[in-house]
Amino acid sequence: MANWKMQLSLKESLELAKQYTKKVNSKKNEVVVCPDYAALPFLNPILKPFGFILGAQDCAAFAKGAYTGEVSPQNIKTLGAKYVILGHSERREHLHENSALINEKIKAALANKLVPVLCIGEKLEEKKAGMTRDYLLQELHHGLKGVKIKTVTDLVIAYEPIWAISTNKNAKPIFPAEADLIQKFIKEQAQKILKKSVRVLYGGSVNAVNAADFLNEANIDGLLIGGASLKLTEFSIITN
Ligand code: PGA
Repeated sequence: MANWKMQLSLKESLELAKQYTKKVNSKKNEVVVCPDYAALPFLNPILKPFGFILGAQDCAAFAKGAYTGEVSPQNIKTLGAKYVILGHSERREHLHENSALINEKIKAALANKLVPVLCIGEKLEEKKAGMTRDYLLQELHHGLKGVKIKTVTDLVIAYEPIWAISTNKNAKPIFPAEADLIQKFIKEQAQKILKKSVRVLYGGSVNAVNAADFLNEANIDGLLIGGASLKLTEFSIITN
């Protein structure tokens, strides 16, 4: 899953999407491209014929109404997205999103047949204090409160330790074996809450060198990739 964040102009997004169709392998694994809202309708006709899947980076917590500036899950669905990233740590930090709002967004996404990708991850302070699992468990309980899914493919969780996200200070990826243990925990806890199993992605400083090591771990079902998804050669190595 490529998270382009707000890194590209519209022109750059279209250019990168076209390059993806030449170099990125969309057949071996499901490749989901998440551009910003503005690029979404333009990318659909470029990427869909090549088997790529589209995702949005956020959606409103409401179906419709007087919510200036928000984008409804229904419109995101209509524009061709299948997935929607929710609760990314950058939105929690810079846009002050809390777990209650993220929980509403998950429900709104599901009601519109979008697959929410709930992002959770601990800060460095929590990791240092040995609180990682407590923190993640709390995030799961708040984020998934009252959420109902029918099958394993209805919802995805992305484990992204905040200290490992490449744009954060002194970021470095977690060891794959450590991520695997934490993701096993996330899967077990999510199963208890949802009464269904779900897939768990890893995200945070994934690159062409370490991607295979993460994917070889039993509890890592996929990757959420920021920086490396903007570099064509890097991303094509990951997908090939
Ligand atoms: P990164 O970002 O791959 O650049 O660390 C991942 C993310 O924030 O989703």
